[in-house]
Amino acid sequence: MGKIVIAIDGYSGCGKSSTAKAVAKELGYTYIDTGAMYRAATLHFLNNFVTLSNPHEVEKALKSLDISFHFNPETEKQETFLNGLNVENEIRKMKISSKVSEVAAIKEVRKELVAQQKGFGKKKGVVMDGRDVGSVVFPDAELKVFMTANLHTRAERRQQELLEKGEMVDLEEIKNNLGERDRIDSSREVGPLIKVSDAIEIDTSYIDFEDQVAQIVDQAK
Ligand code: C5P
Repeated sequence: MGKIVIAIDGYSGCGKSSTAKAVAKELGYTYIDTGAMYRAATLHFLNNFVTLSNPHEVEKALKSLDISFHFNPETEKQETFLNGLNVENEIRKMKISSKVSEVAAIKEVRKELVAQQKGFGKKKGVVMDGRDVGSVVFPDAELKVFMTANLHTRAERRQQELLEKGEMVDLEEIKNNLGERDRIDSSREVGPLIKVSDAIEIDTSYIDFEDQVAQIVDQAK
């Protein structure tokens, strides 16, 4: 079976990454979490006190930005590295979640990260999740999925994930963060979150995780 590119886009916290990971595992594909790349860029900018409204500072910081993914055989998970350091846990924290959409709306940042993402998919056999994968990164992807879920369900899932990582956050704060990120992500000028016409839509509010994975794997086959 020839390998394809699977693009999974959708709102914040509707289970894109866990679904994409499971689909990649089942098909023997590589999983690329583009959200992790924007999160790592945000951490890099915070570490370097970059003024986001200053394009020169942004360009300079982008030159020293090195993001990579490494598989950890102990946890059996792919982890995100920033300039050689494992930042997988740090980039999931609220400190980053509350800043990432602002960073992701900067056109120089998108240009750089989209170029890297295109490179990851050159050989096909990838499942990539994000906001603009089907529209900008891989407009020719053979399979495009747009995932949604209601805000309450998304916030509850995110709260659970944060709790598992030791961060206790109020449900309302998470709802506000998800809603605000959706608003910024959908209304930005460059690479906004949209459902492209050739994407299949999956609402994950009430379907089993296994079913949503099976639906995508079936489509891929
Ligand atoms: O997927 P995740 O929620 O980790 O993404 C974090 C943020 O990164 C999103 O809210 C969005 O602002 C940005 N993002 C993006 N384009 C992508 C992936 C993520 O703008 N392809």
